Amino acid sequence: MTDRRLIEVAFPLKQASLDSVHEKNVRHGHISTLHIWPARRPLAACRAALIATLLPDPGDEEARRALVERLGGQVKETVRTRRRAGGAVEEEIREETVGGILHWGRESDPDLDWFREQIRAAYGGRPPRVLDPFAGGGAIPLEAMRLGCEATAVDINPVAWFLLKCTLEYPQRLAGQTRPLPDFVRDDHDFMELFFKKARELSGAKLRSALQEFFSDEVASLQLPGMESTADLEADLAWHVRAWGQWVLERARADLERYYPTVAGKPTVAYLWARTATCKNCRATLPLLKTTWLAKKGRKKRVVLELTTDGTTDYTNFTDGEKEKSVPSVKSVVFAIRELGPQEKAGKGVGQGTMSRAGATCPCCGAIMTMEDLRTEGQAGRLGAVLTAVVVDGDKGKEYRLPTAEERQLAEEAEAALDAVFAEIPFGIPDEKIVEDAKRNTWCVQYGYSRFSGLFTSRQLLSLGKIVQYSRAAWIAMREYGYPDSWVEAVSAYLACNLSKTVHLASTLCTWHQSNEQIRQVFARYALPLSWDFAESVPTGTSCGSYISMLDSIERAVSTVLTATLISPSPYIYRESATKDYSTPGFDAIVTDPPYYDAIGYSVLMDFFYVWLRRSLHGLSPEIDAAFAESLAPKWDHEAGDGELIDDSSRFDGDKERSKAAYEDGMARVFENCCRALTPEGRLVIVFAHKHPDAWETLVSAIIRAGFIVTGSWPIETEQASRTRALSSAALASSVWLVCKKRPAAARPGWDNRVLEEMRALITQRLRDFWDAGIRGPDFVWAATGPAMEAYSQYPAVKKADEPGQTMTVSEFLGHVRRMVVDFVVGRVLSGDGAETITGLDDLTTYYLLHRHDFGMDEAPAGAAILYAVSCNLSDRDLADRYHLLEQTGSTLQLLPWQKRKSVGYDPVLDAAESQGAEAARLPGFEAPPPALLELPLIDQAHRLMQLWKAGDVTKVDAYLDAQALRRNALFHQLLQALIELASAGSEERALLESISNYLGVRGESRGVGRQILIRE
Ligand SMILES: C[S@@+](CC[C@H](N)C(=O)[O-])C[C@H]1O[C@@H](n2cnc3c(N)ncnc32)[C@H](O)[C@@H]1O
Repeated sequence: MTDRRLIEVAFPLKQASLDSVHEKNVRHGHISTLHIWPARRPLAACRAALIATLLPDPGDEEARRALVERLGGQVKETVRTRRRAGGAVEEEIREETVGGILHWGRESDPDLDWFREQIRAAYGGRPPRVLDPFAGGGAIPLEAMRLGCEATAVDINPVAWFLLKCTLEYPQRLAGQTRPLPDFVRDDHDFMELFFKKARELSGAKLRSALQEFFSDEVASLQLPGMESTADLEADLAWHVRAWGQWVLERARADLERYYPTVAGKPTVAYLWARTATCKNCRATLPLLKTTWLAKKGRKKRVVLELTTDGTTDYTNFTDGEKEKSVPSVKSVVFAIRELGPQEKAGKGVGQGTMSRAGATCPCCGAIMTMEDLRTEGQAGRLGAVLTAVVVDGDKGKEYRLPTAEERQLAEEAEAALDAVFAEIPFGIPDEKIVEDAKRNTWCVQYGYSRFSGLFTSRQLLSLGKIVQYSRAAWIAMREYGYPDSWVEAVSAYLACNLSKTVHLASTLCTWHQSNEQIRQVFARYALPLSWDFAESVPTGTSCGSYISMLDSIERAVSTVLTATLISPSPYIYRESATKDYSTPGFDAIVTDPPYYDAIGYSVLMDFFYVWLRRSLHGLSPEIDAAFAESLAPKWDHEAGDGELIDDSSRFDGDKERSKAAYEDGMARVFENCCRALTPEGRLVIVFAHKHPDAWETLVSAIIRAGFIVTGSWPIETEQASRTRALSSAALASSVWLVCKKRPAAARPGWDNRVLEEMRALITQRLRDFWDAGIRGPDFVWAATGPAMEAYSQYPAVKKADEPGQTMTVSEFLGHVRRMVVDFVVGRVLSGDGAETITGLDDLTTYYLLHRHDFGMDEAPAGAAILYAVSCNLSDRDLADRYHLLEQTGSTLQLLPWQKRKSVGYDPVLDAAESQGAEAARLPGFEAPPPALLELPLIDQAHRLMQLWKAGDVTKVDAYLDAQALRRNALFHQLLQALIELASAGSEERALLESISNYLGVRGESRGVGRQILIRE
């Protein structure tokens, strides 16, 4: 094998990003539908990274290009124009991949076999050994197995460990095996129809006659197409999961039917509830509703819950201390449901709930219960709940009606049955305490919902209890059928996944989605919030949130993992901390996606499932019992100084420094472990979010200290931009996949000047390659960072030639790298794609051009803006507060339009004179700036000139041009030209710039730097 891996030289970056983002939309068969796990990486990105890490770089450009294309396919663009509000025309580019093996559905193309063979060949015919020490939901090890590798997956969390068994171990062990279907499904027409259709691939007349024959009396003697005999109804694991899931459901349904009555022949889809509080003023029961819309699908369908008050509007007088008070005696709220006509105007206040930021407004007396009042009431256990509406399946879609008296009654009756059901279940009702972390992810606790059982209605607890009870009973039944233990364990494990999926849609944290008329699952975002109005599913029904609908997706996901693991060696799965020595070193590759600071509180959140899995799985195997022995998943063990590696100061008495240090030390230990566990030629690929460059640098420094040379870095877009947290947290921003190899033990310290020279030599050509490959924006900076790091990290330490005893930090080194990279980019922006790096442009103007080029005047994600800022020796704060160049809107940053920038382009002579007289007031946006700004950035001079030009005084314009010596400043002329092209056609900005440019006699060709919008498939 050559020394270089493909990933160290080339990578199908765009293809991996496009296919990863696309994969997030996949609903059927994906491992994410087996069980939720936070921050699962897309399989496409994992597959691309694994293949490119395991395969050598072919060495010549032609072969490399062919290999990358075989892996990622080609990117196809379709362009269409779109007119924006205001008349500007924009081009929309829709991109998707064609070919390759990364796109969902192409993972079983014949080319995958080819890659598998190449990988084996690269390792002398043996399967390479791949480790993921933070394996989570198992995306990386699953892809390693698909590629024929021997996978080892480690995770400290018992739920993750259990999922790894479901994703990797059970399917690999049982793939290709079949067992006779249990006889109870042989009598089930629907089941058999599906089975013949999907497993036997029958359709049309063949299917009909097969079914007819199967259900005829002579069934035993019949030979059916595709089957030896009916006595021989063998099916794989996925079909058994469906069969036994139905077994559980039938029994649970029989017990629970009375609690979910069907009224007027229309099956119930969901019960809609509002939490309640007692009004502190009039004592009415106040429904806490965020909205009163029940359905809101544009003008097509609008249904609203109306609140009126019953009783009189008399007032009762009472004394409050000295004062006589008068409050309405109206005591109850009455609900009605109204559908708005298609032409009807909604009117002011329609759909408005009782809740606002201030608190809840009582519909009876108008008093406000503040959030603090509600917290107090909640903590005292005085919040209640009222059934407001019932959603049913009608003839033309979903209908909304008021609950019947019986329905109100039944919801309460479930309470009485709870003790008996949970007496049969290990550990009883899930009363474990919800842990509160420093980020307050579990903020339901603040309102008194501090135990898991509190997150369910009695009827939900009862239904889930019944499902647990019968899931456990199914093991016994399966054993009686004579299935081997491994089969029983696997089927039961998937039934537990189905329970989790049901729980996910059967909690009082689930809300009703008015526009798509469905129940929203608990982890719509990674938190356990408090939902004021919530939706209760019918697990025994057939709609959203029903056990049967989940079963369908579990079965498909099981089929997927059976195929993916069919020809791989057995995986190794460990439930332990990644800081522990790996028992069997000698890994060819370690590919991993570690937890990132405080981005996600895995354990605190996934305890929501832990408590149910523990009850459902207890006794299935000694290994499972050991994993779920504690009442909750592990957090942090102070004695051992080890545990879940997240930065959560609540574990350190609120001490943020200690918490951060514990996380960083733990990660450093893991990197050292990885270094020990790798073969000398092995590679480590590690995924990091990159919103905060300083945090990133800390981790990279630890990697280098642990003995690694960084050789590459690829920023893969793995998340959809529209996710709730995508812009607000590092958790789901795009990630950088960092490639490292082991540094030879004999490596000696290096010198900074030499290192910088080597870095320049290393990346000059790479920058052109990346640019030519179409890599742009912050991605370009990240793609260049890895290769540049090689120059630095090949030395265990880099000494400063001019400062004896001092070493150059990663941060200092990266400062040089990023500057070189942004100079390259700005060179392209200023002088068209033909030109080389531009030097001598000031920091602020460099930043402006980068930002404007990538994001125009739109909002830019903070991560990208911060990266550009540090690359230009600036900070986002400076840009906003000191230079008034940016405006912060939530988690995004936006350039301020030139007219709104204050204090720009101050000229000491001109402005000092102006500021003496009344003239100053007439200069637009002019305020005397602080003295520190006297070094004038070119962009400020341009903006100042624009303001002067707009004010219409050519004398002042001339004076300014002369004072700043702009007439013959070639860089300024280039800047003007670039600004013209960056401004929208027809805008005032462009017109002004063109006038100034003409005035100065600046000429330039259009270089096509206008903005385009990219739409990913
Ligand atoms: C970013 S997630 C991994 C997600 C995974 N790549 C996937 O696609 O599902 C990080 C994982 O690290 C695990 N983790 C946290 N601390 C750990 C530790 N000390 N040892 C092992 N795993 C740990 C968490 O439980 C979590 O599953």
